[in-house]
Amino acid sequence: METSYLRPFCETGDIRYPLNEIRYRSDDGRILEVANPFEKFSTDTVARLKGLFDKRSGSWKPVDRSGVWRYREFLPAFEPFDAIVTMPEGNTPIYKMPRCAEYTGMNSLKAKHLGCNPTGSFKDYGMSAAITMAKKLGITIVACASTGNTSASMAAYAARAGMKSIVFIPEGQIAYGKLSQALDYGALTIQIEGDFDKAMEIVEEVCKQRNLYLLNSINPFRIEGQKTIMIEMLHQLNWEVPDWIIAPGGNLGNSSAFGKAFAEMVLTGFIDKVPRVAIIQAEGANPLYNSFINKDHTLHPVNADTRASAIKIGNPVSFEKSWFTIEYTSGLVEQVSEEEIAKAKSRIGIDGIGSEPASATTVAGCKKLVEKGAIKPSDSVICILTGHLLKDPDYTVELHRDELYLDVTRETKVRGKKKIVTDGFRNSPVQVPADVDTILEFIKKNVC
Ligand code: F0G
Repeated sequence: METSYLRPFCETGDIRYPLNEIRYRSDDGRILEVANPFEKFSTDTVARLKGLFDKRSGSWKPVDRSGVWRYREFLPAFEPFDAIVTMPEGNTPIYKMPRCAEYTGMNSLKAKHLGCNPTGSFKDYGMSAAITMAKKLGITIVACASTGNTSASMAAYAARAGMKSIVFIPEGQIAYGKLSQALDYGALTIQIEGDFDKAMEIVEEVCKQRNLYLLNSINPFRIEGQKTIMIEMLHQLNWEVPDWIIAPGGNLGNSSAFGKAFAEMVLTGFIDKVPRVAIIQAEGANPLYNSFINKDHTLHPVNADTRASAIKIGNPVSFEKSWFTIEYTSGLVEQVSEEEIAKAKSRIGIDGIGSEPASATTVAGCKKLVEKGAIKPSDSVICILTGHLLKDPDYTVELHRDELYLDVTRETKVRGKKKIVTDGFRNSPVQVPADVDTILEFIKKNVC
């Protein structure tokens, strides 16, 4: 049987590279993808594999417990699976969100919470795969640019695999929780002046010159791992395909991986229809939205500005790949304001789930798309919450204290001028004198 190989994205000609060639772009600068030699499985094979996935879900073997490697038949590039690095990631829950459903005007609404991963974000699905490939290739030093989650994930998986890691982060723009993870897991942490896009540009060049292994989502093996987010989700849904998936869009690796997953699942006969994918960007970091609205496939980078730090990206690496997802799934792109993100985030919170602000674009986007009539209230919709509440805790506290500004930085604590005005749906902390009777009286008045 033919094996997997690398090729420039959407290459129809003969250009191909072996899996063990360390490169991220073709000679003419296109990003690469893993081409898998899938064919349509027989009905029996599909049934057997579905049974096997069920069985592995009940196993304690890390390779079976992992929400990535449980589905290894969809990851032939990593065969013979003798170098797997797993924590084990995945197994992230799908929650009902009744309050968010009411807020968005949906009959019901669900969220798959990828923040429930070992390092707190969806990156662990992709990182398990890419670090596994790094191990197969004998890599000793890995690197990435990050707004927080990639660095935490890469540092952890590199540590597990006994590799050194270097992270490039935008100075003053990374949340302490994430910085503390990278430091704790032993990554050399380089703060650079400039934003994520600058850090990305620098890390690509540094990796080229020093032969370091780059682990941003430009690395095609990250995308292979992130495919399993959708495979796991459909498994959890007993292979019933929802009408819509809503995901935040930053560097656009995740949305790219989702389209690839659906295409391969259709090709192999696992599913016969695909959900529509809605990608939501922040208004201040919206190059994909602009391209979608203008119906041109051209990337016009923007100077990104949003408090949703995870998607503060103006020059996304996987722009073309995410266009494939939009077209393949008859998807769409929407943008949401800072106010809409903040309001949606507070609703996710009262569903008892919590997320960082980029994830809240999904609920905000859902509300907007229902209002526009693109999503029907009776549609089945899954919002993909990509990161844990504890990524940007400053944001959450500022939101509840009504002190949320677009132009504030944690380091300087300088309050900005552009206030993000929400709708009073807040839960500010209160100060009460340290006296039992006064406190009891206060609780009686305010709670019961
Ligand atoms: N949500 C979260 C929580 C993220 O951390 C990121 C990206 C995204 C969404 C955007 O996903 O790039 O696949 O469109 N975080 C990167 C990082 C930039 O460095 O952690 P995408």
